[in-house]
Amino acid sequence: MSSNSPVVAIEAPGKINIQLRVGGCRDDGFHELANAFMSVSFCDVVSISPARSLAVTVSGPMASQVPGDESNLVAQAARLLGRSQGLAPNVHIHIEKHLPVQGGMGGGSADCAATLIGCEALWKTGISNSEMAALAGDLGSDVPFSLLGGTALGLGRGEILTPLSVSGDFSWVLAVAEEGLSTPSVYAELKRSRENTGVGSHVDVVPAPQVSPGLFEALAEGDSRRLGKELSNDMEAVAVAMHPSLAETLDAGLQGGAIASVLCGTGATCAFLTEGDDAARSVASALTASGTCASVHRARGPVSGPRILG
Ligand code: C5P
Repeated sequence: MSSNSPVVAIEAPGKINIQLRVGGCRDDGFHELANAFMSVSFCDVVSISPARSLAVTVSGPMASQVPGDESNLVAQAARLLGRSQGLAPNVHIHIEKHLPVQGGMGGGSADCAATLIGCEALWKTGISNSEMAALAGDLGSDVPFSLLGGTALGLGRGEILTPLSVSGDFSWVLAVAEEGLSTPSVYAELKRSRENTGVGSHVDVVPAPQVSPGLFEALAEGDSRRLGKELSNDMEAVAVAMHPSLAETLDAGLQGGAIASVLCGTGATCAFLTEGDDAARSVASALTASGTCASVHRARGPVSGPRILG
């Protein structure tokens, strides 16, 4: 990359799942979801610049946990967009990695969505939003939401999105676990536990997932207490069984004054809803003092999707 190459820097927000209802497993191996996502102000930064060939580098506090080469999924994002538009994906993608890895906050999906937006800003192909959303869906179930941002309900495997209206924003504290959880392994464990209890795991026998009407009302009213009552994640029990120390983290945040807690995605980050910035500071201090997690972050949400900086 020469010093005068144009660089597009994009803020890539992570997400919280404010309600995650998991239905049965389909024949394609994906679970049917009713997945209410919210983007938050805890972000990676992805920078894209023209280069002789495709290259990926990574810096930042979480850099050691993701591939700093073309095996990173962001390379696949650039290749996919390039191929769809007949362009060679000759870009240098640099990720400043802050979001937890295997943390359930959609960090990898956020980086992919930011890469699509950054490449399009450089290449100006004029691709439509619907084509872009389809490419995002090919990259992963959460990537379409990462492209959209805000607050949305995801049906299907999470990629069929309807934006949700929200008044104001909410104050969150995020406790990143020492050890992440792999998404496929948590889904596989849920499937196994459903089969073991005799309920069955197939989409034909598990009731279709639905989020609660109270969730929409709490969001529309911007009422933190009410939203606290609606937070839930069908993956939480499975994730806690796999990583029992998560129960201590969830307890520490609640003891520290959070309104409510919820696991992010398939874990292992725990999210805590608070009354506002002062309460968030207390909850964050309590979580740090508890020694039950690797790092603690405050964030507001919803925020918009990937944003080109500068
Ligand atoms: O779409 P993504 O690549 O993020 O999914 C990773 C894995 O998580 C899938 O291969 C599947 O095992 C599991 N998954 C699922 N149901 C979903 C989303 C993901 O079972 N709706």
